[in-house]
Amino acid sequence: MTIKNIFIVGAGTMGNGIAQTAAVSGYEITLMDVDAKALERAQQTIDKSTAKLLEKEKISEEQRQAALDVKTVTELKDAKSADLIIEAATENPDLKLKIFQQLDDAAKPGVILASNTSSISLTKIAAVTKRPELVVGLHFFNPVPLMSLLEVVRGLQTSDETVAASVELGEKLGKTPVVVNDSPGFVSNRILCPMLNEAIYALDEGVADKEAIDTVMKLGMGHPMGPLWLSDMIGLDVILFVMEVLHRDLGDDKYRPAPLLRRMVDAGYLGRKTGKGFYDYD
Ligand code: 3HC
Repeated sequence: MTIKNIFIVGAGTMGNGIAQTAAVSGYEITLMDVDAKALERAQQTIDKSTAKLLEKEKISEEQRQAALDVKTVTELKDAKSADLIIEAATENPDLKLKIFQQLDDAAKPGVILASNTSSISLTKIAAVTKRPELVVGLHFFNPVPLMSLLEVVRGLQTSDETVAASVELGEKLGKTPVVVNDSPGFVSNRILCPMLNEAIYALDEGVADKEAIDTVMKLGMGHPMGPLWLSDMIGLDVILFVMEVLHRDLGDDKYRPAPLLRRMVDAGYLGRKTGKGFYDYD
């Protein structure tokens, strides 16, 4: 099927980043969120991001306009005219399974249903639909307009044709697609989140203060951001969720979430999105 219209579920950081990237790449985008305010915030984010990219001559005026023209809706049933659907809703397994059942009912036959999940099993998501061979993981990275990786996650039931179409889409979006198998955390979060978790253990145990930990990893390891700064950007709730999935599904205590990470999440200090994490963002 030729892909022209893409329907994106969830207007948060990842959803609006995917919408912007796909619109700039020439696709017609509909962005859906049950919360109209989230859609407004998404449009503001797209406006700011594309203004910056235009100023740096990374995109043209026409591409910026295409991103500003992203259509917004509040109901899943509007997915009926889409040629591809990408779900980027909150990382909550029950919610995602429910959304996939509804998308399966709403979407045209033959349409690929993709999830941007950071750790939920694609095999499990596929199993609640009547088109499991068309379910795939399209795992984007934050900030989506700048990060060049697309992790394409193949569930047990995903067909070769669906994987090939996903790789082709990733290339058209200007990303480098890498195909991996469905396993807790895939490749990216299986390796990244334990590193971030370990930095939080080091902070909690007083090995060094937050600035020192971040500077060591930036200057010594050439990372663009220190692990605590990056944790704040990703969201501490997201990291805790991924660590819980790794700990439970791989059954190894080396994935035990750092107690400080849990305390921060309990306190509502989720990072940049709440104005407070390991750093303050007022
Ligand atoms: N749109 C447009 N411009 C943006 C932007 C966006 N969304 N975000 C940042 N920029 C701009 C900044 O405003 C800045 O502009 P300026 O040069 O005019 O000041 C410019 O990009 C560069 O930003 P920085 O000064 O912060 O410079 P960096 O060289 O550090 O680049 C970065 C930014 C590409 C984000 C880099 O820091 C980086 O690669 N960081 C690591 C990010 C990372 O690891 N992401 C993955 C997270 S894990 C994930 O998403 C998976 C999930 O499942 C957990």
